[in-house]
Amino acid sequence: MANGLDDVVAAETVLSDVDGVGGHLTIRGHSLMELAGRRRYAQVVRLLFDGFFDDLPSDAELEKAIGKARVEVFDRVQPMLAQLAPLDIYSGMRAGMAVLPDGDSLADALRLIAAPAVLTPALLQLGRGETPVVPDEKADHAGDMLRMLSGTASPALAKALDSYLVTVCDHGLNASTFATRVVASTQAGLTSAILAGLGALKGPLHGGAPGPVIEMLDAIEASGDATAWLRKEIAHGERIMGFGHRVYRVRDPRADALKTVVRQLGSRSETGSRLALAETVEQAALEVLRIAKPQRSIQTNVEFYTALLLEAVGFPKEAFSNVFAAGRVAGWIAHAREQQATGRLIRPQSRYVGPVPDLVA
Ligand code: ACO
Repeated sequence: MANGLDDVVAAETVLSDVDGVGGHLTIRGHSLMELAGRRRYAQVVRLLFDGFFDDLPSDAELEKAIGKARVEVFDRVQPMLAQLAPLDIYSGMRAGMAVLPDGDSLADALRLIAAPAVLTPALLQLGRGETPVVPDEKADHAGDMLRMLSGTASPALAKALDSYLVTVCDHGLNASTFATRVVASTQAGLTSAILAGLGALKGPLHGGAPGPVIEMLDAIEASGDATAWLRKEIAHGERIMGFGHRVYRVRDPRADALKTVVRQLGSRSETGSRLALAETVEQAALEVLRIAKPQRSIQTNVEFYTALLLEAVGFPKEAFSNVFAAGRVAGWIAHAREQQATGRLIRPQSRYVGPVPDLVA
């Protein structure tokens, strides 16, 4: 039995398809390349939500509604921010999201879209001893997130963050989406379902990898020898963060989408030298993994260039998983609604392999 449910089809979806052999990601009939950098995050939210909410407005109206939801979420969580700030940034965000109403309406969904984008900068600001910046409901989502983070948002950085949010908005039945669908299948509300997704995303085998990617890049830069450093990690049984995937046997297409964005930002000298280091490390890692694990095709995954992009737009590494959640929450909500609509509880079986009681006559 495959205890990781490899290759088990557990849902039918119109939302996204991951072709792990061809290296393609399809989102509602569009290839990732048609969306990343070409559609804004609010437009992609609408694309994902289409058919799952009756009262879905136009793209422009939805963008405004997300802006209003940011303000609403800020007002709702502001009184508790001081209690959340001492927690690690992911737990603080999750706890702040847990107080949102647990309904199934579009308003509930938009508050959940808004919440990571509001809570993450606010908690980072408080952690730095600063006062959280109030959202601007008229700003675009990514730009406002950066403005709340650092007081300003250059159009280039806002576009880069927007491309990131689009790139990670949905990705088949990954661990966090499956967790979300399981909870949604009980007909619990959207907040409960999204909290399940948040729990699953946090782990380093899923959305917790990009922070460690930065630690790896820093350690390799200090060591001066990428290959030797990586070989030592493998010899100690460690996994190289940002490489390998359950479904992709070729390069994750999201890695290329994000690398393109980082390259566009590369004219800023800091990002350019970081990209050069990352490319050297990537080549060394692929070679070390090819030799160490010849039976498995282990390629670059989304998290490697996520780390570079989120660092370049100004997030500290401890907040990277929060920003991943800020993008993926759109996919989680759409999957939750799709699962609810089936009316079918997800309830697989386990095979009991423990001791059996003595049969008493
Ligand atoms: N570094 C070193 N070895 C690896 C890596 C890696 N990054 N990935 C897989 N392997 C090895 C395993 O050690 C195992 O070797 P073995 O057969 O000698 O024991 C073999 O490849 C198969 O590994 P599995 O765990 O069965 O592969 P799985 O499909 O479950 O792995 C996973 C997917 C969990 C993502 C894995 O590649 C990994 O741990 N990567 C590092 C963490 C990471 O980058 N996470 C982000 C994933 S992307 C995302 O979720 C958004």
